[in-house]
Amino acid sequence: MLSITTAALLSLASLAAPGTSDPSPTLARAEQPAQEGQRPRQPGGPEGRPQGERRISVEGAMKIMGRSLEKLEPQIGDASKRDENLTLINEMQRGCVIAKGLAVPNDVLARAADDAAREKMKADYRADLLSVLKKLISLEEAVAEGKTEEAKSLLQQAVRAGNLGHEQLGVGDSKDDPFRPK
Ligand code: HEM
Repeated sequence: MLSITTAALLSLASLAAPGTSDPSPTLARAEQPAQEGQRPRQPGGPEGRPQGERRISVEGAMKIMGRSLEKLEPQIGDASKRDENLTLINEMQRGCVIAKGLAVPNDVLARAADDAAREKMKADYRADLLSVLKKLISLEEAVAEGKTEEAKSLLQQAVRAGNLGHEQLGVGDSKDDPFRPK
């Protein structure tokens, strides 16, 4: 019969991923952004997704941002639309965070000349989305506090940061690009 100590050691060993001595595989996964077409396994829902989370692509996340921006731009200075504007800003933040956690789409990555350019593109992608997200957080604060002039300026800054990101990645040529002159 196994002693309690041996049984405890055996069950601890079975928790570690084979071939690794990393005691916190969940944390390690959380730090590694998903690769396109290869999702990190997380407990909860089907196919390793947390319960309630649906599959979404960078394109889908961008559509969320684009749709919200389209509604937000003409009414950002309208204090009577404060609550609606806060909801739209939250939607933009949501799209931004979702995109930031995903990999750069393969067709975009394919435009990079070599490994070094691919690595730079991945770093730029996350940094640019983070920069947009920071503006959107300040924008939320300004709208919540009724600072409409500051809000207008912050939304413009978020749009400029988004535009810069699209230019850096070379994704500005689509007809759906919100930064293309209409
Ligand atoms: C205010 C900020 C932004 C808005 C409103 C926005 C919106 C959009 C929209 C509407 C599209 C076209 C989606 C479609 O095909 O229907 C798009 C595409 C894309 N955006 Fe953004 N974007 C923003 C910022 C950024 C940033 C900072 C990055 C990263 C640097 C980025 C990366 C991309 C990529 C990679 C695509 C191509 C997605 C694909 O077709 O697979 N975007 N964006």
